[in-house]
Amino acid sequence: MLLTTGYLIKDKYNTRKREEYTIELIPKANLNEVIDLQLEVYEGIDNKEILYLDSYDEMYEDLKNGAKVIGVRNNRGKLISYRYIGFPGKDSRNLGYDINLPKDELDSVVHLETTVVKPIYRGNNLQSLTLEIATELVKEEGYKHLLCTVSPYNFFSLYNVMKNGLKIKKLKKKYARTENEEGMWRFILHRDLKNPYSNPVDLVVSKWANLEKQKELIEDGYIGFEIFKDTRLLNYMKFEN
Ligand SMILES: CC(C)(COP(=O)(O)OP(=O)(O)OC[C@H]1O[C@@H](n2cnc3c(N)ncnc32)[C@H](O)[C@@H]1OP(=O)(O)O)[C@@H](O)C(=O)NCCC(=O)NCCS
Repeated sequence: MLLTTGYLIKDKYNTRKREEYTIELIPKANLNEVIDLQLEVYEGIDNKEILYLDSYDEMYEDLKNGAKVIGVRNNRGKLISYRYIGFPGKDSRNLGYDINLPKDELDSVVHLETTVVKPIYRGNNLQSLTLEIATELVKEEGYKHLLCTVSPYNFFSLYNVMKNGLKIKKLKKKYARTENEEGMWRFILHRDLKNPYSNPVDLVVSKWANLEKQKELIEDGYIGFEIFKDTRLLNYMKFEN
């Protein structure tokens, strides 16, 4: 199903070629393309902790249960980026449990799962664009909460997610595959699509890299509210009640 089309710049920092792209929902039958792109991007990442790999089987099961993959194709039809979104319901992996969302709200949670952009197409705002499209899709379907995890070491992803209105609610280790594993540090971010924040009562500024301070602020009831690209500073705010 075609969602939209547009133009982007391939190889933005060298040859700069203008190219048409299409955005569509990827059917289960094409999941192999998604997994291949995920592996290609993973292999190019220095810090492997920032990307949690989804297996073919996990994703296939999730797609059968309603999850969606929004894919971006270049002018030759090749997949160059995707965003995977899931609807965890009451499943224990629902991030709503981590941020103490009321139980009766769990069914209206959308997980923003993995998103990747092929390196030669980076810098076209594709992570943000597919997030905007996903938000519109789920709003139409009546969902209320967007939730995701982002590694504290993944500045670009954190910036793009916060630019789209998600706020930091927690910092904890996630995704341990066995009981002996500790898991990986993740911010848990949340956007309530129906109730935006208002009436801040306090503001504290933290450096993006200062995780200890951010952990303390979150424990003290602050929410990571805004991040600034040039200074890499974060505004933490406290709200009434
Ligand atoms: C995170 C990611 C999806 C962002 O890609 P994107 O949408 O193309 O990023 P943007 O268009 O917002 O890029 C903004 C700027 O950051 C730069 N940038 C983006 N990702 C970068 C990266 N991984 N390394 C260095 N610079 C990067 C862009 O070149 C651009 O620079 P400019 O402003 O000077 O032009 C992409 O970097 C990626 O696929 N990373 C690996 C997978 C990952 O971390 N996924 C998120 C967790 S699931």
